[in-house]
Amino acid sequence: MDRDETKLNFYFCNPPADVSLDDIDHGRLPRHISIIMDGNGRWATSRGLDRSAGHEAGVKSLRETITACVRLGIDNLSAYAFSTENWKRPQREVDLLMALFAKTLVKELPLFHRENVRLELMGDLEALPERTRKTFYRGIEETADHTGMTLALAVNYGSRAEIVRAARELAQECAAGTMDAADIDADAIASRLYTANVGDPELLIRTSGELRLSNYLLWQLAYSEFYVSDLLWPDFDRWELLRAIKSFQSRERRFGGVVSK
Ligand code: IPE
Ligand code: IPE
Ligand code: MG
Repeated sequence: MDRDETKLNFYFCNPPADVSLDDIDHGRLPRHISIIMDGNGRWATSRGLDRSAGHEAGVKSLRETITACVRLGIDNLSAYAFSTENWKRPQREVDLLMALFAKTLVKELPLFHRENVRLELMGDLEALPERTRKTFYRGIEETADHTGMTLALAVNYGSRAEIVRAARELAQECAAGTMDAADIDADAIASRLYTANVGDPELLIRTSGELRLSNYLLWQLAYSEFYVSDLLWPDFDRWELLRAIKSFQSRERRFGGVVSK
């Protein structure tokens, strides 16, 4: 992905003491970064605020992360916004999140246009309230011909549901005679997942210190590098993103093999 050096240096000027752009090898950036944006509720509660204030504050972190990734020239950014299990939350919080998704997307569409970002959604959108669903479809449509970074937002997303859906699709194709069961391989499954266009993330970031996947990209994360940040999502910023990339670049990725020295 092309990057504008002037804009990049400007966006990352005035770095903190421990990390800066110079710590990053621009030739070895992950092509796909994925984030489990966690800790909004704790961020709000620790300030004596309603959990909703945490979700609202989290929008700023996502906006900053999108811009930072565009500046760096990352091809694909994906982010977990609402899981298939999050419906278990109090109805008020669910309603608020659905309204926030719609409001934020409308507000941020100019950013997508300005930065040439293409929006994709991962998850079952049919189960979302009408206004939220329509706003997402509008965002997807309006940004469909953008050629810069792809942002894949996971909403009403669950990895097991995603794999079940792919299995059903393959079974239907076999029943219809358009697919032979013997031809089902890893690529056949991967191409029926929501990530068909963006591929597997090389780097997964989870905020708020939690060490679990919470039903996120179980198939796609098979060989991803994990970076767990202790920051709560509303406190995540461009510098923590650089720390995650720096950590990623210090890892030895072996994919089950042996690295020759
Ligand atoms: C992540 O923050 C946002 C969503 C799951 C929608 P949480 O709401 O899970 O925040 P914590 O984990 O309760 O602090
Ligand atoms: C995962 O976070 C889902 C999102 C970030 C959208 P949760 O907060 O729902 O996960 P658990 O319940 O702590 O595993
Ligand atoms: Mg959480």
